[in-house]
Amino acid sequence: MKALVLAGGTGVRLRPFSHSMPKQLFPVANKPVLGHVLDNIAAAGITEVGIVVGDWEEDIRAVLGNGSRHGLRIEYIRQDQPLGLAHCVRIARDFLGSSDFVMYLGDNILPDGIRPVAEQFRAERPAAQLVMYKVPDPRAFGVVELHPDGSVAALVEKPQDPRSNLALIGVYFFTSRIHEAVDAIAPSARGELEITDAVQWLLASGADVRASEYEGYWKDTGRIEDLLECNRRLLAGLAGRVAGAVDEESVLVGPVVVEEGARVVRSRIEGPAIIGSGTTVEDCRIGAHSAIGRDCVLRRSGIDHSITLDGATVTDVPNLHGSLIGRSAVVGAEPGNTGHRLIIGDDARVEVAA
Ligand code: G1P
Repeated sequence: MKALVLAGGTGVRLRPFSHSMPKQLFPVANKPVLGHVLDNIAAAGITEVGIVVGDWEEDIRAVLGNGSRHGLRIEYIRQDQPLGLAHCVRIARDFLGSSDFVMYLGDNILPDGIRPVAEQFRAERPAAQLVMYKVPDPRAFGVVELHPDGSVAALVEKPQDPRSNLALIGVYFFTSRIHEAVDAIAPSARGELEITDAVQWLLASGADVRASEYEGYWKDTGRIEDLLECNRRLLAGLAGRVAGAVDEESVLVGPVVVEEGARVVRSRIEGPAIIGSGTTVEDCRIGAHSAIGRDCVLRRSGIDHSITLDGATVTDVPNLHGSLIGRSAVVGAEPGNTGHRLIIGDDARVEVAA
């Protein structure tokens, strides 16, 4: 079985970060979303991975390379325009050949992995094995309608009036029958070739289409709030490890990772939290669920439930909460300033204490 990872999307809802990086490379628990995706694929016993990339191809290649770090062989497949998930299957045909494959959306996080469903698919090989999850508002997703006996009745992409609360999550298993389906469908109202329509086509032509409810945690990391929630969820399973330097005046409580080359001085860190390599933390209080990237500098500050990306600086800010601080961004108090001075990029968001 091969894997087809889709990482061509732009991530408009993740502005301002998506102006300067692909959403699939955003770090959650100090690992890019795509790193979590590839770990799950490797854990399911798959080694050959095609990644569909768009304008961010170079950035994604620079981080993932040929896949050897994850024990995988990666091939990159260029999609010049975001014409839909089924279009990705069309352009990946040479890579896929006649293999069975899992199609995995590169912005979906499943900390509990995909092994059980992959094993079930391998054993039974239906034309399509879908994975679904109950959500409060299914209108933003592909929706699965079931017959009373649990078999799949219909699939509808982003229905206005959903007939069930079962959303398609971004992991689909297919045999090569899907190729006929992606060739047969026409673009949807949003101008995309929808994989949901292709699977509905298979269903209508009598193919064996199955859907099982996912039992673990799942998040489509489309929005800032989703990233923070995922970060919290992934850090919850953290095992503490100190490879960097922690001085005697510092206190670590609960699971805390201090990576190689990081320095913690006169600070209190409450886990679960990660301090990235090369980062300096001095006279700070780092609260739970914080993921501090590499080569950051934090001084005389307090931060919790937050993500700071590589190279960020935070000084003399006592109470940051639920924050995302971008690469090489600088947040700080400045002696002599009587008011706030903001130098923030397009689509950024600042919320100060009322
Ligand atoms: C896509 C699929 C949708 C699925 C969702 C899961 O939506 O079209 O069926 O439920 O991913 O994340 P998109 O993220 O392209 O809006």
